[in-house]
Amino acid sequence: MRFFVPTDIYVEKNCVRNHAQNLIAVGKRTLILTGQHSAAANGSLNDVTYVLSAGEIPYMIFSEVEENPSTDTVQKATQIAKEFKADFVIGIGGGSAIDAAKAVALLLANPDLEADDLHKVPSHPLKHVPIVAVPTTCGTGSEATPVAIITNRKVHLKKSIPHVLFPVLALVDGKYLESAKKTLIVNTAVDALSHMVESILNIKSNVFNRMCPEYGLKFWGECKEALLSDDDVDESLYEKLMLTSTIAGMSIAQTSTSVPHGMSYDLTLHLGVPHGPAVGYFLAAYIEVCAKYVPRDVAKILSLLGLKSTEEFSAMIRDLIGTCTVTHEMKEKFAAAMKVNRSKLDLVPGKITPNDIDYIYEKSLVVK
Ligand SMILES: [Fe+2]
Repeated sequence: MRFFVPTDIYVEKNCVRNHAQNLIAVGKRTLILTGQHSAAANGSLNDVTYVLSAGEIPYMIFSEVEENPSTDTVQKATQIAKEFKADFVIGIGGGSAIDAAKAVALLLANPDLEADDLHKVPSHPLKHVPIVAVPTTCGTGSEATPVAIITNRKVHLKKSIPHVLFPVLALVDGKYLESAKKTLIVNTAVDALSHMVESILNIKSNVFNRMCPEYGLKFWGECKEALLSDDDVDESLYEKLMLTSTIAGMSIAQTSTSVPHGMSYDLTLHLGVPHGPAVGYFLAAYIEVCAKYVPRDVAKILSLLGLKSTEEFSAMIRDLIGTCTVTHEMKEKFAAAMKVNRSKLDLVPGKITPNDIDYIYEKSLVVK
């Protein structure tokens, strides 16, 4: 058994400014990667630049990271980082900004590689420059994982790049959720829930690494009424939601994600469905299928969430994210691809069958 998260993680109010010394000790010059608006709006970018300026660390800001960051964006940011002679990168935002920062960190340390090579190069360990992660949503967990999901639009591929890219430092502060829309909080919280469920319902699950998702699911259960309510989430829950997301990241850092994540990528790539709901749509049916093989694990998940049955779980997910409609042709195409996706299927604790896959698609999506 092994538990491995080599990231120095701090979770607290005013985290970035409290740990200024940790941040400025990472390197001498940095490129900050963010999305277009949120890092400026929620105060996280201001906190980071304040600390860097006070520590006399020159920085540049690349604020063009889009949802589902592309190899083109990564290439552009890498070029800017190279010209600026950045020796570390900071990703501020949701999974997109942090994952893009991870990819740039890899390319900076391997100047012969291009961003379009990221999915192709061998999985043997490659060096990368240090990465700092400042999450501002409560779902990605990327601050505590070795994974970077990058999209190559030229070949319609959304996939994790095959390299271990743990941040050296993660600074997690719930206050950055204050300006987030309720939908974003719900969508990303569903992603965190999926990370923990997929980590437990996984052949790599063991007594040691289950500490994380079991602890995190209880926290998630304590937030669920607020997520389901029509009202805004009370600020007293922000830190718990962020902490849960980081714990969920630590969970998949041990096991990796499984079938629902594998199924989600087609919905995002072909229909533009945001990541959290795209995964969440498949979660209830996946739990149902796994209940055939590991009923006690499913019962444990439901109990930690304060739910009585898989039907109650399914209703909760529907209340949170609604439904997703696809054509019959799309469903057949997605299912056919999933049936040969061994990297995800082989993680299922039990012999998942082609019929199980069809069942999950049938049950999870509205087919027209
Ligand atoms: Fe995810």
